[in-house]
Amino acid sequence: MTERLAADAAGIARAAALLAAGQLVAFATETVYGLGADATNASAVAAIYEAKGRPRFNPLISHLPDADAAFRHAQADARAARAAASFWPGPLTLVLPRRDESDIAALVTAGLDSLAVRVPDHPVARALLAATGRPVAAPSANLSGRLSPTRPAHVLAGLEGRIAGILESGACGVGLESTILDLTGPRAAILRPGGVSREALEAVLGPIDLASGTGGDVKAPGMLASHYAPVLPLRLDAETPEAEEAWLGFGPEPGGAAAVRLNLSPAGDLVEAAARLFDALHELDDTAIAAGLRRIAVARVPLRGLGVAINDRLARAAAPRG
Ligand code: TXA
Ligand code: MG
Repeated sequence: MTERLAADAAGIARAAALLAAGQLVAFATETVYGLGADATNASAVAAIYEAKGRPRFNPLISHLPDADAAFRHAQADARAARAAASFWPGPLTLVLPRRDESDIAALVTAGLDSLAVRVPDHPVARALLAATGRPVAAPSANLSGRLSPTRPAHVLAGLEGRIAGILESGACGVGLESTILDLTGPRAAILRPGGVSREALEAVLGPIDLASGTGGDVKAPGMLASHYAPVLPLRLDAETPEAEEAWLGFGPEPGGAAAVRLNLSPAGDLVEAAARLFDALHELDDTAIAAGLRRIAVARVPLRGLGVAINDRLARAAAPRG
């Protein structure tokens, strides 16, 4: 089921073709093996979450062949340009404001207006990115809750049969994930320690904050990211829309008065629903506010497969905000 590809010209070309067709391909970076998908294809990105069995939509890192390509999707200030010049290609991920014109799917950023970009330093990753010609979203290529893989055998142990292909190229050199540096605020902050040390970054950028909870803990940086939530309150597990509500459907449309409606997947397909979730929330929020509505009612989404992550994100979006 999973094509085991040699990391030669033919294998790279096959892997790029699989990615272009919306399939998932694992490949080596200098840090760990990544599970790649075309970042501009929301269904392919949804498939990453399904293959990993991730119960949450953490935002993903977009991999690009060079800084120019990265900064076409994310806005670089002087600090970002300096960091890129010093550490790219290499194990550094920059979180930057996302550009409006970027065609990276909203599911990659979990609806946030920031974007994590990285230029990996591994010949196979670089060849794949060059051949693909598009941003590649890639979390570590392990099942959710498992260790990040540094060898093809680790990847296959968890994901064989769940992904279309793997480019097999031996062990990764760094073996530790990239350092994630948040440059969206006035002070640079490390969200996840990794392959580039704080000292090395500070030598180039000056003092850097270590976000609380990152003291060597590389498990939960996603929890530090502020989560996208619509402006209007949500009412979950709704059966039909009530007065002054917009409707976000899943499966067959109910009756009811709501004039402002969207459906995540009329056919009840969870991968399609995941792919549309953040775009749909943004669009429905805007339209409902413009129409003077007060709330968004959301149909029940089943708690299986990608429905677990969809429900997690809806519950966060519906939680009272402080
Ligand atoms: O070394 C690495 O970074 C590997 C290789 C494959 O590149 N990738 C990796 O991805 O470790 P992943 O998905 O396991 O971790 C990405 C982390 C997530 O924890 C997420 O919270 C954070 O990056 N992240 C992504 N976008 C973000 C954003 N816009 N704001 C804050 N954090 C973000
Ligand atoms: Mg990971």
